Amino acid sequence: MSAQILDGKKISEEIKSEIKNKTLHLKTQKGITPGLAFILVGDNPASQSYVKMKNKACDEVGFYSITEKLPAETSEEFLLELINRFNIEKTIHGILVQLPLPKHIDENKIIEAIDYKKDVDGFHPINVGKLLIGQDSLRPCTPAGIQELLIRYGIETSGKHVVVVGRSNIVGKPVANMLLQKQAGANAVVTIAHTGTKDISYYTKQADILIAAIGKPEIITADMVKPGVVVIDVGINRVDDPAAKNGYRIVGDVHFDSVSKVASAISPVPGGIGPMTIAMLLSNTFKVAEQTDDY
Ligand code: GUN
Repeated sequence: MSAQILDGKKISEEIKSEIKNKTLHLKTQKGITPGLAFILVGDNPASQSYVKMKNKACDEVGFYSITEKLPAETSEEFLLELINRFNIEKTIHGILVQLPLPKHIDENKIIEAIDYKKDVDGFHPINVGKLLIGQDSLRPCTPAGIQELLIRYGIETSGKHVVVVGRSNIVGKPVANMLLQKQAGANAVVTIAHTGTKDISYYTKQADILIAAIGKPEIITADMVKPGVVVIDVGINRVDDPAAKNGYRIVGDVHFDSVSKVASAISPVPGGIGPMTIAMLLSNTFKVAEQTDDY
């Protein structure tokens, strides 16, 4: 048996096309162009590549975007001032500070400085709190992308055992909270395994839906999963590959070749959750722009 591929690339193209149409409508009807400000501090190659991809996606759907590239030595104070400017700038509906930030900058302080109504990453404590209690909010993009992919493939989550491996603030904790809600596309029984878990495979073997958000290349192997499991691979890991043009290739947290033989469905890396994350960023930004009444 070979698993069905959950094609995040294809689904994200469909979502982008929907957003592109709605954006055209918003422009002609209300004169509003969704605007997104990116802030990139330092020269982390992965961060540079993510921001480039997010920028390109903005262009594709007709958004306005601006990118502030700042040196690694940028002070916290300067960054806070820049965020403040975007907070009050009417043409900007979303503000995204790419993480991680250099060590001398307090990430929590930066996230809290962003107007929560423009927090298209869904990282602000107000949005985190709203998500937890099931209120409408800006939701973090990777978890929202995972849920959207499951919904669009018709994969039932209600009553299913979802096992999340990883407890980051960006993926593990919010996706667990999202799928736990008594709402459509959720209502799952959720377990979170993490670095403090003694026997990870004891839990992963019980998963109807397994979400791997660990950040370690190919560590989920076929012997760790139940036949028929649905696997969502959130990992984006660079591994050395002398045969590759740039000397590396990208793999997920899941050993795709072996796990895809026992799973019923699996999201690939690349082409799975990565593009879905970007689609949800556009969707969040559109949502803010659409609700703007300042014009
Ligand atoms: N770094 C890794 N993932 C993300 C993300 O979704 N948003 C931001 N801002 N930084 C990240």
